[in-house]
Amino acid sequence: MSRTIRLAVVPGDGIGQEVVAEGLKVLGAVLPADVKLESTEYDLGARRYHRTGETLPDGVLAELKGHDAILLGAIGDPSVPSGVLERGLLLKLRFAFDHHINLRPGRLFPGVKSPLAGTESDGASTTRRDIDFVVVREGTEGPYVGNGGTLRTGTPQEVATEVSLNTAYGIERVVRDAYRRAQARPRKKLTLVHKNNVLVHAGHLWTRIFAEVGREFPEVTTDYLHVDAATIFFVTQPERFDVIVTDNLFGDILTDLAAAVTGGIGLAASGNINPSGEFPSMFEPVHGSAPDIAGQGKADPTATVLSVAMLLDHLGFAAEAAKVEAAVAADLAERSGTRSTSQVGDALAARVSG
Ligand code: NAI
Ligand code: MG
Repeated sequence: MSRTIRLAVVPGDGIGQEVVAEGLKVLGAVLPADVKLESTEYDLGARRYHRTGETLPDGVLAELKGHDAILLGAIGDPSVPSGVLERGLLLKLRFAFDHHINLRPGRLFPGVKSPLAGTESDGASTTRRDIDFVVVREGTEGPYVGNGGTLRTGTPQEVATEVSLNTAYGIERVVRDAYRRAQARPRKKLTLVHKNNVLVHAGHLWTRIFAEVGREFPEVTTDYLHVDAATIFFVTQPERFDVIVTDNLFGDILTDLAAAVTGGIGLAASGNINPSGEFPSMFEPVHGSAPDIAGQGKADPTATVLSVAMLLDHLGFAAEAAKVEAAVAADLAERSGTRSTSQVGDALAARVSG
């Protein structure tokens, strides 16, 4: 394990700038003195696009590749046409760096109010509902590959296709990763979410591989849900989930719901992971650039700080990751009143360095 972390930082747009500053504050405070943090900032996003027309130049992509990990704030602004930055920057990074594991934890911390009635976790009460799951979303296939096109564009006879790509190779590697994560957790439960009664071609491939790989993990209990049923259980019985594995599109939608039931977008963290380490993995809050509150110091940096914990864990700093999570848990349990973005960051940095 290298004792230098070469970190590429992409603050991005809007509140991305504000929350990343706090994430770095906490990262700097938690790292042991003998670990050197070399961070390089990259200016990417809406501002760069407006200035130069570039989304992700090849030279920048090559430079990013030389880092151990990437910390990203948020990219985007309503002034940029929809799809330009999503496809030209965020998805381009995911595909170029083979981020096939998109990891999104859904955990209701004690003291955090869930919009689900009777689901406030106080950390002690017996009525507490323990929401603590992780969604392992496939990140490089499905309907997100750009496999489609249009014909007779702009006419009443226009045709558009958006073909979902599913490979045995791609499914197997994400399914095996999910089993490993389930195996390492106390409940050892893995749920496959798909729609195999209607999307039979892809669905049967997923289901078959899920069963085959499962034979290597006899201790893991398995379950299957159609995606529509899963949305019901996310609301009525979120505590039933431990690890969930699903395709790119279902995972995108389910994880927004997951964020909503566990206390909101200000707390939802994510990792775009290349487990082999061949390319740097990228960690980011689930939320966007929030133009409505940008520049006002109102953004909650907690999702970014939790993303930093995932980054630490990925780089092998498990103790430091746990320290950051514990600091967030303690801070959330005691939260009251309104604090600015930097006040929350200061409080968390103080906790991890104590
Ligand atoms: P958004 O997540 O930026 O904001 C949705 C709502 O949540 C807003 O009311 C915002 O104020 C609030 N919010 C978000 N993060 C918060 C935080 N940390 N603390 C407190 N409140 C927070 O989603 P929206 O408005 O749909 O998108 C805004 C821009 O961000 C768009 O250009 C969109 O394309 C981009 N975007 C980028 C993402 C990324 O970089 N991965 C993800 C989602 C959106
Ligand atoms: Mg999304």
